[in-house]
Amino acid sequence: MIILGIETSCDETSAALVKNGSYVLSNIVASSLKLHRKYGGVIPEIASRAQLEYIQPVVSTALKEAKIKIKDIDLIAVTKGPGLGGSLLIGLSFAKALSFAIKKPFIGIDHIQAHLYAPALSQKIKPPFVGLVVSGGHTSLFFVKNFLSFKLLGHTVDDAIGEAFDKVAKIMGLAYPGGPLVEKLARRCKNSKIRFTCGRLDRKLDFSFSGIKTAVLYKVNSLNGKISFRDKTGIAHAFQEAVFDDVVKKSLLACESKKTKRLVIGGGVASNMRFRQKLMQAALKNRIKIYFPEHNYCLDNAAMIAGLAYHLYKKMGGSKLSMQIEPT
Ligand code: KG4
Ligand code: ZN
Repeated sequence: MIILGIETSCDETSAALVKNGSYVLSNIVASSLKLHRKYGGVIPEIASRAQLEYIQPVVSTALKEAKIKIKDIDLIAVTKGPGLGGSLLIGLSFAKALSFAIKKPFIGIDHIQAHLYAPALSQKIKPPFVGLVVSGGHTSLFFVKNFLSFKLLGHTVDDAIGEAFDKVAKIMGLAYPGGPLVEKLARRCKNSKIRFTCGRLDRKLDFSFSGIKTAVLYKVNSLNGKISFRDKTGIAHAFQEAVFDDVVKKSLLACESKKTKRLVIGGGVASNMRFRQKLMQAALKNRIKIYFPEHNYCLDNAAMIAGLAYHLYKKMGGSKLSMQIEPT
């Protein structure tokens, strides 16, 4: 079964052709990131205009690269949410129009659940497992009984982890998106005494990152505008260690509570090498097997949308043309 995946939830426009749920024939990603940089974050109106501009060439390129004719696709899979309303609307309207024109079914897919399918594009993963999504918009733990059943175990009560990375970077005067830059700085840290901690919550599997972000702001303000490179590396290192310790601890706790030895990771922050190292060390001690996505499937992409759609469509069939976007 050949599925055309379409992902337009934020500032990436992506289209992919995936055969039978895991064989990726093409995965094209265009990003409007550079248009948002000067504002220090994604501007929804700019993102949706770019989606409109990019969607048709991105889909055409994906078909061309996969050497697939439009009449040969069996299903169109599209992100229905969560994400930015305007951006989601472009993808869904495009998918509906294409479905109507070529008389092929379409199916709406949840973006967060698809992030947890990304590791399955390159390795066999047998549910049940605990899934951890660490992205710019979400930080959530799920119990995944099968690819049709995602039970939320905990989530962030304020900022998402990637958002916290981006804000900490902004406080230190770094560019957007700040996650990779904070990782780079942290790697240069030598013997810093700076320490941060994440807030404690009543619900043990929930997350909170706004307190630590404010602690970083206070630390930077206390330097009276004289932040040195050494300060920056110390702050980046202390921030990164604290948030990853928190996420690793809660992921293991979730595995223990669900009595599973499988942990699947998804989302942009999964490309952080220190995160992978910390998680691997903890997993080894607890005999838990970790499944990471390949680096090109950590960030938003349409291959994960088409991959998950294969399982959903087989069990539940397609969506109705009246389907609406689900931005939150
Ligand atoms: O999954 P994603 O593309 O976006 C959402 O679906 O929300 O992830 C983007 C996020 C950004 O916040 C970015 O700063 C963060 O992932 N990120 C990282 C790294 N690479 C990307 N955070 C920490 N370390 C990285 N190496
Ligand atoms: Zn995402």
